[in-house]
Amino acid sequence: MGSESEIERILWTEGEIASRVAELATEISCAFTGLTPPPLVVVGVATGAFLFLADIVRRITLPVSVDFVRVESYGSGTESSGVPKISSDLKIDVRGKHVLVVEDIVDTGHTLSCLISHLNAKGAISVSVCTFLDKPARRKVHFELIGEGKFYRGFECPDSFVVGYGMDYNELYRNLPYVGVLKPEINSSPMASFPSATSSVRHLHPKSPVVGFRTDLR
Ligand code: PRP
Ligand code: MN
Ligand code: MG
Repeated sequence: MGSESEIERILWTEGEIASRVAELATEISCAFTGLTPPPLVVVGVATGAFLFLADIVRRITLPVSVDFVRVESYGSGTESSGVPKISSDLKIDVRGKHVLVVEDIVDTGHTLSCLISHLNAKGAISVSVCTFLDKPARRKVHFELIGEGKFYRGFECPDSFVVGYGMDYNELYRNLPYVGVLKPEINSSPMASFPSATSSVRHLHPKSPVVGFRTDLR
């Protein structure tokens, strides 16, 4: 499990990702030039955003601070509650600051909706979002940016379960330098979709069933 031979097709290569990340960084650097007050607080959503965040902040030409949050959903049995909670909070005080949330993918929107409310409650002046992938076909929750916040996305993602460049399936494949779709036999095998002891319940539903065949692939 977790190797390149399990990828059916590549959606975005390492080179395509690098070009798009550079474009986004330029766009963001221009948009936030002259920011008052500096610095822009870049908030990565662990774990999936770690590679995208590392790549994009190195190309943003403005002073930034970097911090991480972890957002998880817990539920009973195999059902996700659908109501995420901040399970690991910011170290930086964002009161009176401009925040840029960095995500690997926006799917239902639950994670972002929760995080934006949290940042609003903490007194951020503005909250923008930069997500590497956006999958509007799966959106269930509408989220509003704060203040003059803007929404940036790298690519629109088809409604398939994608892995790589930070994104996982049962905590594997995050280290692939490209984004791909898993072979059906990988993500439909009972063993492959059986949860590890450490995976969050949220990972099982609606993103994957406990056993059997996936019908709602990311
Ligand atoms: C994934 C992804 C986003 C979130 C998007 O994270 O990295 O953070 O799901 O889904 P949503 O829009 O439906 O809320 P996940 O909860 O799987 O944790 P991970 O980043 O540790 O993989
Ligand atoms: Mn995530
Ligand atoms: Mg995940």
